[in-house]
Amino acid sequence: MSTTFTLDTATSRANPTPSPLRRLTVPAIQQRKAGGKTAEPLVMLTAYTARQAQLLDPHCDMLLVGDSLGQVIYGLPSTVPVSLDMMCAHGAAVVRGSYHSVVLVDMPFGSYEASPAQAFESAARILKETGCAGVKLEGGEAMAETIAFLTQRGIPVCAHVGLTPQAVNMLGGYGARGRSAAEEDKILRDGKAVADAGAFAVVVEGVIEPIAIALTQALAIPTIGIGASAQCDGQVLVAEDMLGLFERVPRFVKRYADMATLISETAATYAAEVRARTFPGEEQTYQPKK
Ligand code: KIV
Repeated sequence: MSTTFTLDTATSRANPTPSPLRRLTVPAIQQRKAGGKTAEPLVMLTAYTARQAQLLDPHCDMLLVGDSLGQVIYGLPSTVPVSLDMMCAHGAAVVRGSYHSVVLVDMPFGSYEASPAQAFESAARILKETGCAGVKLEGGEAMAETIAFLTQRGIPVCAHVGLTPQAVNMLGGYGARGRSAAEEDKILRDGKAVADAGAFAVVVEGVIEPIAIALTQALAIPTIGIGASAQCDGQVLVAEDMLGLFERVPRFVKRYADMATLISETAATYAAEVRARTFPGEEQTYQPKK
C-alpha cells in the first residue's frame, strides 16, 4: 500500500483520503511472526497527539498510545496517576491522525487489575471512544485470566512483561529486570502465560538479553522489545526519547535527533525577533486591500 499522501493539518486527516483506506490489522501483525521467526522486525513508536501520529504513522506498523504520556505530556512523576479519560482523549487523537498503523492504547493503572469484568468495561470504553484496534496491559501470570476474558470477547490484547512501570512502587525503580534466577524464571513464566491466554503480542521491557532471546524463541507471538536487545521480533521506543526531547537518556534509548536543542534555539530566535520588533515582518502582516 502506498503511504504517499498530503497531511491536512486543519482536519487531521490524510488528504486526499488514501484509497483504499486500509489499516494494518492485529492478525496481520501477529502473522508477521511465522514458524517462530519474524522476517522483518515490527516497528512501534508511542504517539499521543494527532499531529505526531500523522508524522510517525507512515513509518510504523503500530502506534502505541502509551501511559508514558503521564510523564511525557502531563509532567507526572510516574504512570500511576494516569486516568482512563486521558487515555481515551489521546487515543482518539492518534486514531484521527493515522490511517496505516495498528493503534494500541494502554490501559491505565487501576482500570483493569480488579477483575476481568472491570478490565472488559475499561477496554470496551477505550475501543468505543478511540477507534483503536486493541489495548495493552501490564502483567504476566496474574493477568492471564483477564487477557483470556478480553480476547474471548473480541478485544485484542498486547501484554507487557519484564519491567512493568505501573508496578514501580513494588519494583522500587526502573532498573533492568531478570538479573537473578528467580526474576528470570518469573519473566519467562509471565511471557508464556500471556501468550497462552491469547495475547497477540507482548512488550518485553527492561530485561537482560538472554531473557529476550529465550522469550522470543519460546513464544509463537511477536515480542516487542524496549530495553530488551535487538533479539526481539520488534522494537518500541517513546517517540520523544528517540527524538531527543529530553536530556535524560536511559541506556536503552538511542537519540536519533536533538529536538530539545532545536526547539530551544528556535524559541530563542523567535523571542529575540519579537523583542527587536523584526517579527512580524512585512510577509506576516495584513494590509488593507488595494
Ligand atoms: O507507556 C508506554 O509508552 C509503554 C512503552 C514504553 C512500551 O508502555
